[in-house]
Amino acid sequence: MAFDATVDLGRGLLLPNPVGVASGTFGYGFEPLELVGIDHLGAIYSKGTTLNPRAGNSPPRIAETTAGMLNSIGLQNPGVEVVASEYAPIWATWDPPVIVNVAGADIAEYVAVCERLDGVPGVAGLELNISCPNIAHGLDLGTDPGAASACVAAVRQVTSLPLLVKLTPNVTDIGEVARAVETAGADAVTAVNTYLGMKVSLRRLGPVLPGLGTAGLSGPAIKPLALAAVARLRRAVAIPVVGIGGIASTQDALEFLAAGAAAVQIGTANFHSPHISRQVVRGCLEYAAQSGLETWDQVLQRPVRPEPA
Ligand code: FUM
Repeated sequence: MAFDATVDLGRGLLLPNPVGVASGTFGYGFEPLELVGIDHLGAIYSKGTTLNPRAGNSPPRIAETTAGMLNSIGLQNPGVEVVASEYAPIWATWDPPVIVNVAGADIAEYVAVCERLDGVPGVAGLELNISCPNIAHGLDLGTDPGAASACVAAVRQVTSLPLLVKLTPNVTDIGEVARAVETAGADAVTAVNTYLGMKVSLRRLGPVLPGLGTAGLSGPAIKPLALAAVARLRRAVAIPVVGIGGIASTQDALEFLAAGAAAVQIGTANFHSPHISRQVVRGCLEYAAQSGLETWDQVLQRPVRPEPA
């Protein structure tokens, strides 16, 4: 039987392959389209989008760490009206599905943004970002299973779009939050958003990133933690898990699939290796062909071979 590269994230959201680019690392797709192309991608997850335009936090907003990166962007975005009326019509002409990452200050804002995007051609799905560590109260919904559930249930009332929920790892048991959003109507979960971190300037005797002082840690430093979260979620919920956290190679992506992810997102690596997503898609498809897979689910049953040198 021929290999089927597609991934079904539920409610009709079919990805041509499992490898997508993460929110906040690919903008709304327009600049990367010029730089690296998008035709190879399984999905584009947009920058976090709020009801009204946001300028984001004061600079600097990014700092390197050992094997990782801290960001404190603060949800800079043009607001949902621009996304719905100007960006989505262009996305409707693209091959990869575009999933809009939605953020907000409270449940009412999530509902308003999702309601505006419902039924808009070019919007293939929504990724509820209840896990942004860079705005005041940005983690309130994602760290409380009851609040997370209330948010998802309220959004579910106003949209029939596929609904992913991006979870924060800054909790004791990510499985508990995942079960709450699954019961409330989520079609899939994305794990994980960034870990709360900090970089200190001894010259200023204060945080390097002034936003909230703390920031979100991503990159290879978090990969083992993210893999453990994905494996935990695979056991906790029945809906698909989209894995993210330090993926920078084909080997990394396959490890996430082997840990139980149905699809993956490449994030921080896009900044230092803009072409990395094309390499990872090609590498995963070569792995599938060489291993005689029929579907991605079979990665779970087979040992992942080391990436060719
Ligand atoms: O713009 C931001 O600060 C987004 C952060 C996040 O969702 O992790």
